[in-house]
Amino acid sequence: MGFLGQNAVMSSDTEGLKHWLAGQLKIPSSGLVVDAGCGQGEDILAMAKAHPATSFLGLDRSDWRGAETVSDFPSNLAFQIADLAEPMPLQDASVDALYSINVLECLADPSRFLRECGRVVRPGGQIVLGHFDWDTQTFDGEDRDLVRRMVHCFSDWKQAWMDAIDPWTGRRLRRLFAENRQFEGEVRAFTLISTSFEPGSYGRRQAESFEALVRRDMVTREDYEAFKRFQEQAAARNGFMFSVTLFAFVGTRLLTD
Ligand SMILES: C[S@@+](CC[C@H](N)C(=O)[O-])C[C@H]1O[C@@H](n2cnc3c(N)ncnc32)[C@H](O)[C@@H]1O
Repeated sequence: MGFLGQNAVMSSDTEGLKHWLAGQLKIPSSGLVVDAGCGQGEDILAMAKAHPATSFLGLDRSDWRGAETVSDFPSNLAFQIADLAEPMPLQDASVDALYSINVLECLADPSRFLRECGRVVRPGGQIVLGHFDWDTQTFDGEDRDLVRRMVHCFSDWKQAWMDAIDPWTGRRLRRLFAENRQFEGEVRAFTLISTSFEPGSYGRRQAESFEALVRRDMVTREDYEAFKRFQEQAAARNGFMFSVTLFAFVGTRLLTD
């Protein structure tokens, strides 16, 4: 199970990103940290294990957690089903740090969600809200128009679990937070580079996820096969490379609105 083209299923080439993201959050020695749209809960599980005196809460509309993960949950970690299009099941100013990765693009009203974050995060509390900008995906290829088209088709593809799709969410974060006016902070960026084409590598999974575009008549089978062949040939010469950039707003809740 995993999210096509998303980072829920991690491989070794995504460890750098995970490390970078973890470094953006200064986890308080007590209090409450929330992962809004936690997916399988990998990130919040790692945080909870490393900070036993802090409480962690994962919110998601779907329960993606595998049985193994759940049995591994420490006592300072809870999970709650919640639709982030609705008010979060949290008191005003009750959260010390809010973390949300690759969720905002599928919410129909991102500004409303940011206002909700402003409601639940306490004055001076932290926010780390990150998103891949899917149009920053780079693949090499013979036919530049084809690669661009595939990237754009993938970016605009609204998958079944999404209420909406805005693949430019990453590049919009600075403006969205400026308009929100409840946080101060800055946008930081991390470019994930995947050079392995081994089964399960992030770059290979991303290339193969483009096959879904064929099933949706967005790309022809021949175009997809030509694209895939190019990646395989590049990999055979040790020359495969994929990258995508994640932008994250890292900030604190203003003391007053
Ligand atoms: C791409 S996954 C990211 C998961 C996790 N944050 C990560 O980085 O691995 C997006 C997550 O957002 C959740 N999601 C999407 N729309 C939601 C909504 N309206 N309310 C709650 N969760 C939602 C999905 O169920 C999914 O777990």
